[in-house]
Amino acid sequence: MPEFAFSRLRRSPDVEAPNLQAWDATDELLVRQALAAGVPGAEIAVIGDEYGAITLALADAGCCGVRVHQDLATGRRALERNAAALELSGFASHELDASLLKGARLVLLQLPKSLAELEEVADAVARWAAPDVVLVAGGRVKHMTLAQNEVLGRSFARVQPQHAERKSRLIVASGALAVPAQPPYPQRAEHPEFGLTLVAHGGAFAANRIDIGTRVLLEVLAGEAGSAAQLRRSARLEPESRRDHAELQNSSGVMPDESQVVIDLGCGTGALAAYYALHHPEARVTATDRSASAVASARETMIANGVADRVTVTHDDAGSDLPDGAADLILLNPPFHLGASVHTGAATRLFAASARLLRPGGALLTVFNSSLAYRPELSRLIGPTEQLHRTSKFTVTRSIRR
Ligand SMILES: C[S@@+](CC[C@H](N)C(=O)[O-])C[C@H]1O[C@@H](n2cnc3c(N)ncnc32)[C@H](O)[C@@H]1O
Repeated sequence: MPEFAFSRLRRSPDVEAPNLQAWDATDELLVRQALAAGVPGAEIAVIGDEYGAITLALADAGCCGVRVHQDLATGRRALERNAAALELSGFASHELDASLLKGARLVLLQLPKSLAELEEVADAVARWAAPDVVLVAGGRVKHMTLAQNEVLGRSFARVQPQHAERKSRLIVASGALAVPAQPPYPQRAEHPEFGLTLVAHGGAFAANRIDIGTRVLLEVLAGEAGSAAQLRRSARLEPESRRDHAELQNSSGVMPDESQVVIDLGCGTGALAAYYALHHPEARVTATDRSASAVASARETMIANGVADRVTVTHDDAGSDLPDGAADLILLNPPFHLGASVHTGAATRLFAASARLLRPGGALLTVFNSSLAYRPELSRLIGPTEQLHRTSKFTVTRSIRR
């Protein structure tokens, strides 16, 4: 059988760059291992298939009925696009749940970045797959740690690392152990200083804690909420109508929230959306993230804070399903790590999305590490940008869409 043409795979709609590719040697090792095992496609589950390389190579080799879970909306779209381009089908996408794993006897896993995510996956495999399931987990050697073996060892009796090949290594885990009555995730935590409860699945940014940058942005929101809707004033009005608005403020006090459209872009566990919804009961808030783990977490965070009926949570890439020019306010704590390298492409993508989503005069509130100097980029992509707050590490800016 001819080799699968991995080089034809694309990352799009994820960031494309000359130093970034859509597959790696780990994908190739996992596919080779699966084909050697001879397990039927319907008994194979793939987890963490970034751009579809594993699933599509198996489909290309004639494995039918493979189930796949990908955390990122961008990865899911890349898989669809790659499948269409290569004219491959016969696989099905699932969330990380029983439907993905029921009856699976071989699970192929691209090791996730965090141990928490690995723990959640290993538990899910031991909980839902066939009793004789074999989990083959792989990664780049430079990113692998002994702690990963320990985590796998909590769910499997035998954990056997293989020899490294082309800077990748597979770990074979078998002998699923009895699982605890409750899965280890999601985990919740109270944050009384902000009146918030956060719920986090294993892959969610900052787990059930409030990230230090998020905290700084929440403090700004708390201050703004206390200053008679200053935030809404700048978010709702064109500069030339501010005088009218001041008169309105004088006569009626705080402006009503009901028409205010607010987006928590890259919401993670949903701390910003939940906080905003709690303090602006009439605002229409959407929390959106490209990570399924984040989305599941944010949905549960909204329930835990009693705002699930007022906050819509969506799994999407940079709010691409949301309408142009409709948002009054966007709250953004952008990522600046892409994979293992520091890369600003991911943040730029969310700034550009904000420019599309905001109506003229709408506001983007962003927090970022002060060393990143995003202000010129924000001014260029969105409009006039002012610093609202600065700590020793973080800067919060407000950009008004021109
Ligand atoms: C620094 S975290 C902030 C999370 C949350 N807003 C908070 O403050 O705790 C950045 C989030 O952006 C998400 N993200 C990154 N790129 C994205 C994209 N293109 N579309 C949607 N979400 C994205 C990540 O999955 C992550 O949850």
